[in-house]
Amino acid sequence: MTAAHDPLAPPVVDRFGTPGTPDATRVMLLGSGELGKEVTIALQRLGVEVIAVDRYAGAPAHQVAHRSHTIDMTDSGEVRRVVELEKPQVILPEIEAIATAALAQIEQDGLARVVPTARAVQLTMDREGIRRLAAEELGLPTSRYAFASSLEELQEACAQIGFPCLVKPTMSSSGKGQSSLHGPEDVEAAWTYAQSGARVTGARVIVESFVDFEYEITLLTVRSVDPRTGEIRTDFCEPIGHLQERGDYVESWQPQAMTQDAYDSARSVAARVTGALGGVGVFGVELFVQGVDVYFSEVSPRPHDTGLVTLRSQVLSEFDMHARAVLGLPVVTTMSSPGASAVIYGGSGIGGAGQDGSAGGTAEGVGFEGVARALAVPESDLRLFGKPSASEFRRMGVAVATAEDVETARERAREAASRVTVVR
Ligand SMILES: Nc1ncnc2c1ncn2[C@@H]1O[C@H](COP(=O)(O)OP(=O)(O)O)[C@@H](O)[C@H]1O
Ligand SMILES: [Mg+2]
Repeated sequence: MTAAHDPLAPPVVDRFGTPGTPDATRVMLLGSGELGKEVTIALQRLGVEVIAVDRYAGAPAHQVAHRSHTIDMTDSGEVRRVVELEKPQVILPEIEAIATAALAQIEQDGLARVVPTARAVQLTMDREGIRRLAAEELGLPTSRYAFASSLEELQEACAQIGFPCLVKPTMSSSGKGQSSLHGPEDVEAAWTYAQSGARVTGARVIVESFVDFEYEITLLTVRSVDPRTGEIRTDFCEPIGHLQERGDYVESWQPQAMTQDAYDSARSVAARVTGALGGVGVFGVELFVQGVDVYFSEVSPRPHDTGLVTLRSQVLSEFDMHARAVLGLPVVTTMSSPGASAVIYGGSGIGGAGQDGSAGGTAEGVGFEGVARALAVPESDLRLFGKPSASEFRRMGVAVATAEDVETARERAREAASRVTVVR
């Protein structure tokens, strides 16, 4: 726990208005996926009026918000227009593909408070921004890295970093456009693949040395106003372990066992990076652990997908904590039970391979079978996100479970998830 004065500390909301009236406490989500849906529900429990925005209609948070909008969130003019129309006091960017220049202007004009800050959103959406901040300004340990903007530069960068290494578009998320490279013969394909997975064309990429970690964690770190001092404090959750496949998380659990030394280093890294980003709210700090060495990987300035486990494993889920922190309210980070989460994908029944061999088909209005059987697993629960369309590797729901130990919780979550089938 640390406390420090921060000029961006939010005013404590000491009068919550009534939703639907002019003096409602209004929060706007930019991005309305499954994480945004849970944040919306958490805010509504506190009597907040929520406006959910996404690029497609019927997104998960659209379905539970007071009002929703469908816009191109990479268009500055569109973002500005919905903010001026809805007049939220707080804006929660829930995804990374956002017109950050518009957010910076909105913050500067005092139209709304951007969580955690417009600068933090801008830095973390760009692998180059956050990596340079973490490694070069803060001196945190990371994988070795270099950047490239052309195939020739990439060949040079890979030679400098060495193999094995990873190539990722600097502007991308959820594993899109990422490849593992074993030798110089893999460079050209990695460049081409990165261009296809990037949010922009002519994309810049990062090359990272491969870290042969023992395990990786998300350390949920919460910056909130301390009710006793009025200053921002930093609290940490129990570490969340997770498994990634195809650059996407498939399972997470809490707590991940760590040595005291590694946990101390992890908290120190997380405190420094979140302190440099500023503002309030939940941050998902991704770390690789190798013995006592802890490497910073990346950070989400918002709840993290692997943190879905906290829906069951903590007194306050990461969504409840985020809702509280952004309103200037106190949080508790206490774990209530070991727990686990397992992702429910569209599955192979939905989209077989496409003609080019990629995950192919999509289906609208799918059904979920086996829900009762899934919930018969002891101490389990489900979230079905209600996404309007499904594909083989799209995350359609999640199973969560608790148990006396993490291993049993993981078995239960996996079992519950496997009993749900997505059907056309
Ligand atoms: N330098 C690295 N060394 C080893 N594994 C890595 C490295 N970078 C990424 N990974 C693996 O790939 C996953 C996704 O990478 P990440 O940078 O977190 O991308 P995203 O922004 O898509 O989540 C990580 O959680 C980790 O399992
Ligand atoms: Mg990640």
